[in-house]
Amino acid sequence: MKSVKVGLLGLGTVGTGVVRIVEGNQEDLSSQVGSPIMISKVAVKNIDKLRNIEIDPSKLTEDPWEVIRDPEIDVIVEVMGGIEQTKEYILEALNLGKHIVTANKDLMALHGSEILAKAQEKECDVFYEASVAGGIPIIRTLIEGFSSDRILKIMGIVNGTTNYILTKMSQEGASYEDVLKEAQELGYAESDPTGDVEGLDAARKMAILSTLGFRTNVDLSDVSVKGISSVTKDDITYAKNLGYEMKLIGIAERQDEHITISVQPTMIKQSHPIASVNGVFNAVVVHGESVGETMFYGAGAGELPTATSIVADLIAVIKNLKLGVNGLKAIVPYKTKKIQSDEQ
Ligand code: HSE
Repeated sequence: MKSVKVGLLGLGTVGTGVVRIVEGNQEDLSSQVGSPIMISKVAVKNIDKLRNIEIDPSKLTEDPWEVIRDPEIDVIVEVMGGIEQTKEYILEALNLGKHIVTANKDLMALHGSEILAKAQEKECDVFYEASVAGGIPIIRTLIEGFSSDRILKIMGIVNGTTNYILTKMSQEGASYEDVLKEAQELGYAESDPTGDVEGLDAARKMAILSTLGFRTNVDLSDVSVKGISSVTKDDITYAKNLGYEMKLIGIAERQDEHITISVQPTMIKQSHPIASVNGVFNAVVVHGESVGETMFYGAGAGELPTATSIVADLIAVIKNLKLGVNGLKAIVPYKTKKIQSDEQ
């Protein structure tokens, strides 16, 4: 049986998780799609770097174009991060008829519509479940689970690093700097953690969730952002004494044809379920006109939770490949009418 060949761009925390899951669960995964799945080439920054996973060195290259242009490869999994150069890789892969799975929220928040338009033109899939809330399948849920409803509000904790920091500061009195360092060591934070702590990572995720949930095009500039770098231990203690927990909360609300989106440190009443979302965990509350309030909870960052979403996308892409269809249409907001957003 001919195997499906996958090219991997990036072998950091998440890329390593992808290899572990694809290799470790090979029997189950291949039985789901009807053929073996093989990671045949991997682009890395430095071939000689010591890794905590064994990988055939002949698969490694320092040139991502080698992976993109390999005619044997059917699907590209992008977990290298970056924006402009990565966009070039992905557009070229789509031009070559390859399907894409990406965890790149920066790329999808900034250039998602261009990438999805190219995918549609080339009849290729671009799936990006891992771009928001790590292991929580919130993107599929918004598109498929709520297709019958009109979503009025999406609210939640969508950055694991900042929630980890705020939790440790609140529960252990730890210092901001120490916990940030720990979150970096655990592979939760971005390579430049400024995006995490200043709220930009959460803002990008809220832009993606709002685009899908409200079935419109939301720009990053529509999101007002404030991070946690100025939150002190005293602020957290003060909140606690009043019966609140300090959390970095994203809120997107729609009223008629008007939406407002923000990310900011917020005092949440301890009785609210969001207040007990601790550590690297994320939670997303989706409020629909008919369904009312729903809540989704799980690890928001880290090797295996994030890789779980990526490999689920990979399975979906391969199933589509076999059936000769694209699931892409389900993932593009059809109604592209721009809802008016607040001036920031
Ligand atoms: N730095 C991100 C976070 C990784 O902490 O949530 C997952 O997107």
